[in-house]
Amino acid sequence: MGRIGKYIREGQVWGSVFRHGIPRDRRTRAMAVLTNVFLHLHPVAVRKSGIRLSFTWCMGGLTFFLYLVEVVTGILLMFYYRPTVEYAYFDIQAMRASGITLGLMRELHRWGAHAMVISIWLHMLRVFLTGSYKPPREFNWCVGVILLVLTLLLSFTGYLLPWDQLAMWAITVGSMMARATPFLGAEGPGAAIFQIGGVPLVHLGSDARFGLLAGTMVGPNALLRFYVLHCIFIPFVVSILIGLHFWRVRKDGGISGPL
Ligand code: HEM
Repeated sequence: MGRIGKYIREGQVWGSVFRHGIPRDRRTRAMAVLTNVFLHLHPVAVRKSGIRLSFTWCMGGLTFFLYLVEVVTGILLMFYYRPTVEYAYFDIQAMRASGITLGLMRELHRWGAHAMVISIWLHMLRVFLTGSYKPPREFNWCVGVILLVLTLLLSFTGYLLPWDQLAMWAITVGSMMARATPFLGAEGPGAAIFQIGGVPLVHLGSDARFGLLAGTMVGPNALLRFYVLHCIFIPFVVSILIGLHFWRVRKDGGISGPL
């Protein structure tokens, strides 16, 4: 391997990707990292105390890993799942019955989702307990809060897709919260102030719950809407925000360390 490795590293292909080799001293290493798109994702140096397992609990990394598991298994499920009232329930049952291949994918996706919700809360708890939300990291804390809300929304929208009794009633009850949204929910505080000529603008047919379900009750429109939110819209925003989150960790001076 030694001579072959040397041959590869000194070849034109390797040199066109890694212009500066893998330098050992810190200054040239910084140069190599900054001029390579793959290497620049990693910091040139990290504080040992900051990446100790006892400090980070690795919960941010685990949350990211679980997100990747969800994306990969989710894309595979999309090949077989049809978001219509006729097929949704039976497609999931068929996947579960198919055993080791799709059945495993489906269970990985479901259990991975539960695990991600737990790990993101633990990550937030760790960041709070170590005071890592304080300046200069307060903006990244806010990005994290949006990521938390979106992760819970991913979990919520995914819950409807099996189209079984649990899904229908959980979403029926859960979406009632949207009806109680301040100003935007028909039964929320402040909704009554939006009126034109005495006619309320925020009512059961126009409020936040209606927007979420594309109707006044859980039905085919809600299934399609949740599917698009779950598979395209929310993952798209989450992916961009995770990129921003990581970039900010770097720009805020790397992972904070014990005080
Ligand atoms: C998809 C969700 C998230 C992912 C993938 C993620 C990932 C990460 C990773 C990998 C780190 C590096 C340090 C570590 O692993 O602990 C980190 C740091 C951080 N995260 Fe998150 N995070 C997420 C959600 C959140 C949430 C919900 C919050 C808080 C509301 C948050 C706030 C922060 C802050 C302030 C830091 C800097 C901490 C420090 O410097 O010690 N993140 N995140």
